[in-house]
Amino acid sequence: MTLLVQITDTHVVQRGTLLYGMADTARHLAESVVQINAMRPRPDMVLITGDLVEHPGPRTYSHFRDLIAPLEMPVYLMPGNHDNPAIMAEFFGDTDMFPGEAPHYQYAIEGADFRILMLNSHFDDSELPFFGPRRLQWLEYELESSDQPTLVAIHHPPMWTGIGFIDMVGREWYENIGEIIADHPQVFKIICGHGHVDISGMLGKVPVQMAGAIAHQLIAGRVMDVAPSFDPMPVPPMLHHWKDGEFVSGYYPWPADADAERIDRSSNMAWEDLKDRMRGSMK
Ligand SMILES: [Fe+2]
Repeated sequence: MTLLVQITDTHVVQRGTLLYGMADTARHLAESVVQINAMRPRPDMVLITGDLVEHPGPRTYSHFRDLIAPLEMPVYLMPGNHDNPAIMAEFFGDTDMFPGEAPHYQYAIEGADFRILMLNSHFDDSELPFFGPRRLQWLEYELESSDQPTLVAIHHPPMWTGIGFIDMVGREWYENIGEIIADHPQVFKIICGHGHVDISGMLGKVPVQMAGAIAHQLIAGRVMDVAPSFDPMPVPPMLHHWKDGEFVSGYYPWPADADAERIDRSSNMAWEDLKDRMRGSMK
């Protein structure tokens, strides 16, 4: 069994400030860290899929690093459009959190029931994604080198989302990724962030899951192309759960009072008796 927690788009700003004067991104991240540490059983690792900070630099990355320091399991990072992979490689170079190196800043995580390929869709000075020949070549090489089941993680969503300002970049940037993945059926899922909204889609026959953001959500227009609205609330951490070749994903809130609110306690019934009641005449 492998329990993998994903959080994304933490957008940490300088200490003592709010993102856009509205969202307390440091508090959101600190509360997520508390929830992840409280989860039972303990997750095996945490992936943070980009937009770690709002503006890349030593002051924001040191703030981010202090906020995730209490995490009790291995943590892996990737760059988003708001990050700078070169600064990240320098800043996290003395840790195991970001082994990505120039020129592509991509890496594989081994040792779980499946492999994880951490890709880089960052493009300098743009919010839009980029996935050039060297990154593609690395992806193809890694997929050729092992048939192990593989989860692909990338910041930008390589799929149609139905949200105009995300889809405006077009499909070209991920068409080649889709072709390589179609040739390598060991890829069972793609996870991403970026949209600050929770959407599942497809790249060819492979499911793509875009998690909502820790920093804030966007009420993004679907069907009609209108500007998104800002919602300064976080989502819970997302749990990806592998067991015997099956894989499920979903938000996994773990508030401090989770145990106190257990329905066996509030109803004064044993959990086995409650389950019998759920089974009803099926038991
Ligand atoms: Fe973001």
